Amino acid sequence: MKRLAVFASGNGSNYEAIAAACACGRLDAEVAVLVCDHTDAYAIRRAAKFGTPVFAFCPKDYASKADYEKEIVSLLDSKGVDLVCLAGYMRIIGDVLLKAYASKIINIHPSLLPAFRGAHAVEQAVAYGVKVYGITIHWVDESLDGGRIIAQRAFGYDGNDPEEVHRLGQAIEHELYVETINKLINE
Ligand code: GAR
Repeated sequence: MKRLAVFASGNGSNYEAIAAACACGRLDAEVAVLVCDHTDAYAIRRAAKFGTPVFAFCPKDYASKADYEKEIVSLLDSKGVDLVCLAGYMRIIGDVLLKAYASKIINIHPSLLPAFRGAHAVEQAVAYGVKVYGITIHWVDESLDGGRIIAQRAFGYDGNDPEEVHRLGQAIEHELYVETINKLINE
């Protein structure tokens, strides 16, 4: 059984979709740890429901990104993590983690990359008047939302309400993330 680490900064609905898929056997995997860069993230409460161990940290408590990433790498090593799934982790992955887990880190992003990278992808797309939205899952490299694409799913929306786009997109994210992890761990 493969061992996943999920990284989240806030809500954690994608974490929950992955944890639920593991719990019901849809994914032949286990979430070995949830990593949160906010000690009050709602994702932590979701983790309690599934009994997932949590590592919650405050980046300001460390002298540098390299310092907290070294601690994360030791933790992932100790848990025997096979795949790192970023799920609303709003922090750029640094060299320490990228080198230690090269080709083992994936991310989900709420746009059809390479369009609308960064933190406010949906708001930017709505402001642009986009009619075809989408979700992308990609490998993580040193670029911002720029690694090679693994999966994408599009949906149409002709309106100007970012909340509605988030709602439509999240339903797709939860399905697509589980399907994609399933493919990757069975390759
Ligand atoms: C998701 O919509 C994800 O695509 C987005 O954050 C949300 C987290 O939701 N990620 C990014 O924007 C990354 N650039 P969740 O906390 O409910 O899983």
